[in-house]
Amino acid sequence: MLQQEEIKSIDTILSDVKGQRGILIAVLQRSQEKLGYLPEDAMKMIAEQLKLSLSQVYGVASFYKHFHFKPRGKKIVKVCAGTACHVRGGKAVLTEMESKLGIKEGETTADRAVTLETVGCVGCCALAPVLTVNDQDLYGELTPKMVDDIIASVRSEHGTHV
Ligand code: FES
Repeated sequence: MLQQEEIKSIDTILSDVKGQRGILIAVLQRSQEKLGYLPEDAMKMIAEQLKLSLSQVYGVASFYKHFHFKPRGKKIVKVCAGTACHVRGGKAVLTEMESKLGIKEGETTADRAVTLETVGCVGCCALAPVLTVNDQDLYGELTPKMVDDIIASVRSEHGTHV
């Protein structure tokens, strides 16, 4: 049996999907799939077609964490910032990554090969500290010394080298 609050959230989801907001989210999702991110010009175009303002479109897009407004790399490296990874040296791994890639967390290398991000616990705390590449490959029991090799491997799959 659903609680009152749960019923309310389902109601909200249903009205979102039925209304313009649902259409907008679907359009944003498909645009991001095609372009890799949501450039302002694309959002302007979407706003025009759906008869919304740019700020309405941006407001919805920025509410959801999975929409990105800057170009992202072919490889998305996510260093786990969960508690177990943090306690076991995740921050040092992130710092080394930033230094070796020459970018800060949240940024993308100039050749758009790698984007560096952090993520909450990915559920592999026994292997902490960990990082993932494109949400598929997992590297565990990391130390800053391993960073060079990981970057080389990430970049070699992209066809470039450190
Ligand atoms: S805290 Fe990093 S995998 Fe759980």
